[in-house]
Amino acid sequence: MPKKLLCGKRILICGKGGSGKSTLVSLMASILQRKSYNVIVLDGDASNPEGLVRLLFGTGVEGEPTPLIEFFGGIDAVTCPVDDPSPLTRINDPNPVPQKRINVVEEIQPEYYLQKGSITLFQTGKIEAYGQGCDGPLEKVVRDFMVEGDAVNLIDMKAGIEHFGRRIPDRMDIILGVLDYTLESVSIAKRMDKFCREANIKNFYLILNKIGSEEVESMLMDKLADLQEKVIGLIPYDQELIKAGLSGNAIGECKSLEEVEAIMGRLEQVVSS
Ligand SMILES: Nc1ncnc2c1ncn2[C@@H]1O[C@H](COP(=O)(O)OP(=O)(O)OP(=O)(O)O)[C@@H](O)[C@H]1O
Ligand SMILES: [Mg+2]
Repeated sequence: MPKKLLCGKRILICGKGGSGKSTLVSLMASILQRKSYNVIVLDGDASNPEGLVRLLFGTGVEGEPTPLIEFFGGIDAVTCPVDDPSPLTRINDPNPVPQKRINVVEEIQPEYYLQKGSITLFQTGKIEAYGQGCDGPLEKVVRDFMVEGDAVNLIDMKAGIEHFGRRIPDRMDIILGVLDYTLESVSIAKRMDKFCREANIKNFYLILNKIGSEEVESMLMDKLADLQEKVIGLIPYDQELIKAGLSGNAIGECKSLEEVEAIMGRLEQVVSS
C-alpha cells in the first residue's frame, strides 16, 4: 500500500472570490477519499451558506452541521486573533487546542459534523444576524481547530486575503492559492506570496483554474512572472463542474478529477521532500 504522506496535514485553500476554492476543495476531498485517506473538510467561509455541503454531499443531505464556533462557546466567547493571538481552548479546559488536539469521536457531538464515507465536514460558522460583528473569532477556529488522528484537513477559506492579516496560516502545513483567468487573481497571488515570504512559510503553491485554452494559460503564466515555479497544477475550464454546482448535485466524475489527482500527487511529493 502506498505511503499516505498527507496524513495529518492541514491545507488552507484560498484565493480570489469565485476562483473555484470550494470546487477545488470538493475535488480534492474526492481524490483523497479514493486514495484511502480520511478527510476533514472545514468550511471556513462565513458568508457562503450551504455551498460546500452541496458540492460534497449534494442536495439530498438534510440540514447543516452546528457551527464549530458553538463548540467553543459562541462568537462572544472566542476572541479575534488580532486582538488576542492566544490559542483557542475548549469550554472548561485551559489546555490550548493546538497542544492537546481534539478527539472528534470522543469529544464532539455528531450534530457538529456531516459524514459521508471517509469525508467529515465541519463549518466554523456563518453570518447569521445583522450587526453580528467581525468574523475574526471564526477565523481563530480555522487556525486552531486541530484534531487527533491521521485525517488530511482541507480548509476552504472565504475570498480574499484578510486571513493573512490575521496570521491564520501560522498553523497550516500547506497554503494553496487558487487563480482563475483574471488579473485580480494574479495580484492576489502576488500578495499571498509576499505574505508567505514575510512569514517564512515555505509550502505555498498556486493552482490555475478555469483555464480554457493554451493561449490563456500562457498569458496567465507570463503575468505570474517569477511566481511560475509555485504553480503546481492547472484545472481546465470544465462545464461539468458548472453543471454540478448549478444543479446542486455532489461533484462526481469529471475530467478535472484527473488533474486534481496529479496535484495531490505533487503535494505528497513536496511534503515528503
Ligand atoms: N474548472 C472550472 N471550470 C469551470 N467552472 C468552474 C471551475 N471551477 C469552478 N467553477 C465554477 O466557478 C464558480 C465559482 O466556484 P466556487 O464556488 O468553487 O468558487 P469559490 O472560490 O469557492 O467562490 P467564493 O469566493 O464565493 O467562495 C462555480 O459556478 C463553479 O462551478
Ligand atoms: Mg467558496
